[in-house]
Amino acid sequence: RNIMEPSKEYLFNHKGFYFVTQGATPENIDALETFEIRDSDIFIATFPKSGTVWMQNILNLILHEGHRNGTEDVENMDRIPWLEYNFRNMDYAALPSPRVFATHLPYYLTPRDLRNKRARVIYVTRNPKDVVVSYYHFTKIMSSLEEVSDFSLFLERFLAGKVMGSSWMDHVTGWYSHAQDFNILFLTYEEMKKDLRSAVLKICNFLGKQLSEEEVESVVRQAMFENMRKDPRANYEKMPGHREEDGKCLFLRKGTVGDWKNLMTVAQSERVDEVLKKKMESLPIKFIWDIS
Ligand code: A3P
Repeated sequence: RNIMEPSKEYLFNHKGFYFVTQGATPENIDALETFEIRDSDIFIATFPKSGTVWMQNILNLILHEGHRNGTEDVENMDRIPWLEYNFRNMDYAALPSPRVFATHLPYYLTPRDLRNKRARVIYVTRNPKDVVVSYYHFTKIMSSLEEVSDFSLFLERFLAGKVMGSSWMDHVTGWYSHAQDFNILFLTYEEMKKDLRSAVLKICNFLGKQLSEEEVESVVRQAMFENMRKDPRANYEKMPGHREEDGKCLFLRKGTVGDWKNLMTVAQSERVDEVLKKKMESLPIKFIWDIS
């Protein structure tokens, strides 16, 4: 078969977007169009490997005192389920408010009411070079994803949008250019790394949530990579589908900015620039990472 094509065993394409076969069906994706939104709902939207789990934990720390002070032992994935992958067969309509969902959906497949500015969306982006490197390592640990051991091939599939989440560029440009349809806050992984406290304050402000100085400090401390890594509620060690049964803390791998430099050759980095540059220039904002 064509090596550029993702294996049907792992991915399926629905309405121009690649989903993981384990967990989603075309019917439940279509049903999301009329998903009943509450004004108090919060959605974390990302392209895979851009800091989704990090944002999940930050929101849990901000919203739930019991998560912050350790009196509640609820995992991120139970408190903030995936909209399009209902792994735990939850009744989303029965969840208490404020509900928080994580999603990798492109803007055009999200619930209709979300596109009518109802509820809140936090969209996190990350330098695509770090995304593809994180993604490459991730395919090795997840049995639900096809392992592509040749990084050059994985990179070409990524650039061609032949991975779960489809094209990084289309995802990001889609969400940014339709920002006016949503009640949305944009954040980057890099700004969160650089100044987590400011990012937490931005999020609190967006959510209309007042925290004391000590509470903010505690959120920031517990959302730091090393602390999250040790926290079984936050580190996804019980995520279904690990290739190795005892593979702990694999989800939180390195958590750094610029790890792509350890894997990509100069030629590969230039190849990414070449493919992404034109489209990035048409975006209304400039990202803080150095793309060119
Ligand atoms: P790396 O593979 O580069 O380490 P997602 O949750 O969207 O799948 O993204 C996963 C990436 O976010 C991984 O990147 C992971 O380590 C990183 N990450 C998770 N929590 C983090 C934190 N508290 N600080 C920094 N990076 C974090």
